[in-house]
Amino acid sequence: MIKVGIAGVGNIASMLIQSIEYYRRSGSYRGLIHKVIGGYRVSDIEIVYAIDVSERKVGRDLSEAIFAEPNLVPKLVDLGETGVIVRMGRVLDGVANHMVEDFKPANIDEPTKEELSRELKENEVDVMVNLLPVGSYEASRFYAEVAAEAGVSFINCIPEFIASGNEGYPKLFEERKAILLGDDIKGQLGSTIVHRALASLIAMRGCEIVESYQLNIGGNTDFKNMLDQSRLYSKKVSKTTAVTSTQEKPESLAGRIYAGPSGYIEFLGNTKVSYMYIKALGFMGLPVTIDLKLTVDDKAMATAILVDVIRLSKALVERGVYGAPDWASAPYFKHPPKPVKSDYRSMSVLYEKLSEVGVSIEPKYFYTF
Ligand SMILES: NC(=O)c1ccc[n+]([C@@H]2O[C@H](COP(=O)([O-])OP(=O)(O)OC[C@H]3O[C@@H](n4cnc5c(N)ncnc54)[C@H](O)[C@@H]3O)[C@@H](O)[C@H]2O)c1
Repeated sequence: MIKVGIAGVGNIASMLIQSIEYYRRSGSYRGLIHKVIGGYRVSDIEIVYAIDVSERKVGRDLSEAIFAEPNLVPKLVDLGETGVIVRMGRVLDGVANHMVEDFKPANIDEPTKEELSRELKENEVDVMVNLLPVGSYEASRFYAEVAAEAGVSFINCIPEFIASGNEGYPKLFEERKAILLGDDIKGQLGSTIVHRALASLIAMRGCEIVESYQLNIGGNTDFKNMLDQSRLYSKKVSKTTAVTSTQEKPESLAGRIYAGPSGYIEFLGNTKVSYMYIKALGFMGLPVTIDLKLTVDDKAMATAILVDVIRLSKALVERGVYGAPDWASAPYFKHPPKPVKSDYRSMSVLYEKLSEVGVSIEPKYFYTF
C-alpha cells in the first residue's frame, strides 16, 4: 500500500478518495494513464492522514468531510467511514479575505511543525500531497517543511515554486531520502496540455505563433479563490511558461501570450471551460488562426495525474531516487524544475529513466514521431 496524507480536503481530495474506491471495486483501468507503476495499482493508494482548517471539515471523518460545503464533487461511490479524522492545520495565508465564508477556520489551536511531522511519522505516511488554494505561499512551504522533516515525500499540486524554485527544497528532500514532485499539476487532457500540443504542432509545421490566449472559467472554490489577482501571479507564470516553453524562442512571445484563470461563474461548478485562440504566421507569412473550446471536469483531470504521481513517488523512493528529479515531474506538472518542449519527449524520457532505475510502468506509449 501507499500511505498518503493530504493538506487541503477540497474538491480534488474528494475526487481522489472516491476514485481510489471506484478503481478498487470495479477492477477497471478505464481512463487511467498508467495501469500499474512500480507494481502499484490505483487501488493500492490509501489516504491515512488529512489536514484542513475549515470548521466544516476539521474533526470529521474523511468520508463526510469530502462532502462538506463548499466541496462540489458529487457522491460517486458509497464510502464507509475511513477512520481518518481531518486534523486542524496552520492557516497562515491559505484563506484569502474573500474566502473566509467558504473556508472559515475552526476555532482550534493550530499545530506546530514538529507536531505535524511527528504525526506523519506515526501514521507512516509515504507521501504528502499539497492541495491548498492558489496563493498559499507560506502555508505550502510550511507543509513542505513538515514533510521534509518527517522524511516524507511531497507532491506540490499548486503553483508555488517549491520543486522548481531556488529555495533549496530539492536538496532538503534529497537529504531526507524523500522525493519532491511539482509544481502545479497538469490536467489529464486539460487546457495546458492541449494548448501545448497545438503550439508544438504549429512549430513542427514551420509556422510561428504571434499571439495566443487561453481563457479559463469555472464555478468552484478554486476559481472563486483566484478572483483575487494578488494570489494569481505564480499561476499565470506557470501556465504561460507551459505554453511558451514549447517554442524555439520562448522569449519572442513575451507579452504576446495570456494563459490563466479568467472568471468565476458559479453555475459551472467543477466544469471548466477553456477558450483558446492562437494566431500563427505560416507560408509566405500568411496568417492561420485557431479558436477552440475545451470543456472538462476540472477535478477529474487533476486527479488522473495525481494517481500517477503518488504511485511514482513511492516507487522512486523504493529504488533510492530522492530529491526533485526534473524528468519525474516533467510529464505531469505545468512548472517542473526544468521546462520541457515536448510532452511526447518528456514521457519517453520518463520511461527511459524508470527503466534505468528499475521501476516498471504499464502501458508505455511509444511515439515514433
Ligand atoms: N485541474 C485542477 O483542479 C487543478 C490543476 C492544477 C492545480 N490545481 C490546484 O490544486 C489546489 C486544490 O484544488 P481544489 O479544487 O481541491 O481546491 P479547493 O478550493 O476545493 O480546496 C482547498 C482546500 O484547502 C483548505 N485550506 C485552506 N487553507 C488551508 C491551510 N492553511 N491548511 C490546510 N487546508 C487549507 C480549504 O479549507 C479547502 O478545503 C488548488 O490550488 C488548485 O488551483 C488544481
